[in-house]
Amino acid sequence: MSRGVISWISGPVLHARAEGPFGLREAVRVGPQALLGEVVRLDGDTIVVQVYEDTTGLRPGVEVVGDGQPLAIHLGPGLLGRIFDGLLRPLSGLDSAHVAPGMRRAPPGVFDFEPLAAVGDVLAAGQPFGQVRGASGRLQRCIVPPDASGSVQGIAGAGSRGESDVVCTLRGPGGASRELTMGHDWPVRVPRPVRARLPAGAPLVTGQRILDSLFPVALGGKAAIPGGFGTGKTVLLEALAKGCNADVIVYLGCGERGNELAGVLEEFPTLTDPRSGGPLMDRTVVIANTSNMPVAAREASIYSAATVAEYFRDQGLDVALMADSTSRWAEALREVSGRFGELPGEGGYPAYLSSRLADFYERAAVVETLAGGRGSVTLIGAISPPSGDFSEPVTSHTKRYVRAYWALDVKRAQARFYPAVHPLQSYAEDARGFAPWWAEQGNGDWLKLRRRFLTLLDEQAHLERMARIIGKDALPVRQQLTLFCAELINEAFLRQSAFSEIDRVCSPQRQAAMMRLIGKFIDLADAAVNAGVHPEQLARLATLRPLQRMGEDVADTALERLAELEARLDREFADLTSPAANANITPEAPHATER
Ligand SMILES: Nc1ncnc2c1ncn2[C@@H]1O[C@H](COP(=O)(O)OP(=O)(O)O)[C@@H](O)[C@H]1O
Ligand SMILES: [Mg+2]
Repeated sequence: MSRGVISWISGPVLHARAEGPFGLREAVRVGPQALLGEVVRLDGDTIVVQVYEDTTGLRPGVEVVGDGQPLAIHLGPGLLGRIFDGLLRPLSGLDSAHVAPGMRRAPPGVFDFEPLAAVGDVLAAGQPFGQVRGASGRLQRCIVPPDASGSVQGIAGAGSRGESDVVCTLRGPGGASRELTMGHDWPVRVPRPVRARLPAGAPLVTGQRILDSLFPVALGGKAAIPGGFGTGKTVLLEALAKGCNADVIVYLGCGERGNELAGVLEEFPTLTDPRSGGPLMDRTVVIANTSNMPVAAREASIYSAATVAEYFRDQGLDVALMADSTSRWAEALREVSGRFGELPGEGGYPAYLSSRLADFYERAAVVETLAGGRGSVTLIGAISPPSGDFSEPVTSHTKRYVRAYWALDVKRAQARFYPAVHPLQSYAEDARGFAPWWAEQGNGDWLKLRRRFLTLLDEQAHLERMARIIGKDALPVRQQLTLFCAELINEAFLRQSAFSEIDRVCSPQRQAAMMRLIGKFIDLADAAVNAGVHPEQLARLATLRPLQRMGEDVADTALERLAELEARLDREFADLTSPAANANITPEAPHATER
């Protein structure tokens, strides 16, 4: 065991004179409390250590002891349904005092183990050798660690087993035997290996119309949510965690204030998973390093979270990782880098900010697992740019690495238009590829409708500027129609309350039906205006109100009501454009012709 003695310390960073060899990334224990640290630099006989706990009271002369192995986290059946800090130490609340100094990992739990292999079976890395049932009854696989393989020499029978019990012994290719527990350790900062990265095919279904229908992200893709303070990042991430179609959610609360995360911590345990009917927490792992907790652990938390996500991916699951917020992570990186004495770059961040962000988002993928199965990790990171300025380094670098960009707009948020995703500042680079998927959900015209919606919203922005100068009534009728239709798209489709029982999650089938219905309205309105109807008459249609409110009124299970609405729409428009109706209305509609 290597030892060293502290020669200098500043916040979470210390230098120690090493007596014996240390490895880069080696875990160390510091001082009498055995505080957890990691060797981040070797400089002759001086080691630089980043400490993941409160270093108050440490001083030169205090001893540092090496573990002889890289800093690792324990991945196993005890993760789901629990709350951890940035190094997977269990938290009972959001006060750093709740991680006892020097704690390494959660105390081992007990699970119902069932073998899936027999003596003599040959197992490759990543293959399941057993499964466990947690308290919730949810099954998880016990997989051979990526760095092990061999023939089964012994395996435990079905029954209750402790997390530190050996449940399987493998004889490896060299004849060496390897004892396996239900889970295994993995170095925090090393991405887990896969057999192949596969092309993304389907979108992640988020249940949010503006995301799924206008700016979809791939299952196994990467998205960013930049937004100033109070624009709805946390509410949106929570809505995604509750409503998206991933099998497992890793929710990373990174550097935000404790009370911001309190919502997740108090609410999630009470929620039901719409897919399984069981508690939502059963498919969720929460990792939290709030602003009052040690800054170095916050820096590490993003890697722990990605590693946990990959561990479930390697069991053949679709995993979504939500990080709130990557800006606070970057600030931790900046602070630690400053303590290292590194030269600050743009915005005070270290020069490697960009490559660290790239490495993080690179971990999103659909993969063929080592065992030959299929799994995915989707990454969604919130960004909180100081004073809402999207040109700052974290936002601008992130923008280069994500495929979907969901920009939250202050003006929309101020108008309480939620989700405040700005339809003109947001984009989705993989959208085209999802047309076949949408066709399967009943929307063969998805690409066409999407383009139409986006064009109308774009035109609306121009026309509103003009209308402010010359007045809306002075616009030609066609342009008034454009404004009318764009407003309908906003109100009836893009607005979606996270707090409405019916509307907080919208199924793809309902989205498809709503989108087609609005498309139909636009077609009918277009034809009516061509036939001489004034847009003001459209505003008086009886079906307009139900159309605007269909999101909150029509549940996923009542799609026939949208078909009824469509029939009413047809009738109303037929009345509007029939000669008799026109004869009655024309006198009150002096603007019926274009000026
Ligand atoms: N989708 C939404 N539906 C309804 N209200 C929302 C929604 N998003 C945000 N809000 C409102 O805005 C407030 C601030 O949102 P929050 O997510 O905490 O902002 P941020 O994390 O960006 O600072 C919330 O407390 C809520 O009242
Ligand atoms: Mg927030």
